[in-house]
Amino acid sequence: MSEKKVVLITGASSGIGEAVALELSNGGHTVIVGARRTERLQNLVSRIEASGGVARAHRLDVTSRDDFARVVSATLEEFGRIDVIVNNAGVMPLSPLNALKVSEWDQMVDVNIKGVLNGIAAVLPVMEAQGSGHIINVASIGAHQVSPTAAVYCATKYAVWAISDGLRQEADRLRVTVISPGVVTSELAETISDESARVAMREYRRTAIDPDAIGRAIHYAIAQPSEVDVSEIIVRPTASPH
Ligand SMILES: NC(=O)c1ccc[n+]([C@@H]2O[C@H](COP(=O)([O-])OP(=O)(O)OC[C@H]3O[C@@H](n4cnc5c(N)ncnc54)[C@H](OP(=O)(O)O)[C@@H]3O)[C@@H](O)[C@H]2O)c1
Repeated sequence: MSEKKVVLITGASSGIGEAVALELSNGGHTVIVGARRTERLQNLVSRIEASGGVARAHRLDVTSRDDFARVVSATLEEFGRIDVIVNNAGVMPLSPLNALKVSEWDQMVDVNIKGVLNGIAAVLPVMEAQGSGHIINVASIGAHQVSPTAAVYCATKYAVWAISDGLRQEADRLRVTVISPGVVTSELAETISDESARVAMREYRRTAIDPDAIGRAIHYAIAQPSEVDVSEIIVRPTASPH
């Protein structure tokens, strides 16, 4: 049986983050779940505890370094270590560039890029002091190909890929994984305010797979021996042409 770990998961109030929390807690890992909708997190913690798992919920806006500092400090106080972070929180308000939804561009940069950097900054000193740790960043197949209405979203995910690979090269005692999901059932498309992008996405998402698939892939990466770094995973629907 693999070693039990303390895992911090951002954006765990729905979709992939919630599925990752359930999968890892089922595997015996302690999960620290963060997001802004705390009532959803409390519900998730109750479900995990009802099945014998250990979970803690914290309000965590990934754009706030103070929020990260608070969650890291509470986790260290109670559990003494952070073995894994899953930088999962993300938003995807797609639109064509000429719609000039500049505040949504800002939001994607703030959450999808700076949120991941804030997560890395919060745990890197802890993991370096421990001499071990695993940073898992959720990118997207949008980190590998660009499509209309998704220029800014894909740019943020290319950035997550680049940050992950740079960190992997620099950190020889820490494991780094970038995971790129294809279309997965979640609330992600609900952030789309542009009507044309919303209609196109409805069609695109018809092949969506269950978020448990991403939970299992992340579980696999965590379960490898410490000298094995699963540096990249792409998980997409079998039926997807993309
Ligand atoms: N679903 C897909 O098809 C797909 C494909 C490729 C990649 N991804 C990536 O997978 C990740 C998870 O998305 P999902 O599909 O599971 O969508 P989702 O159901 O909408 O979940 C997104 C999560 O991010 C959280 N979040 C958003 N802004 C946040 C902020 N400022 N601070 C903290 N948490 C924040 C949300 O929680 P609160 O609103 O409660 O804060 C929510 O828990 C994202 O990075 C997304 O880009 C998804």
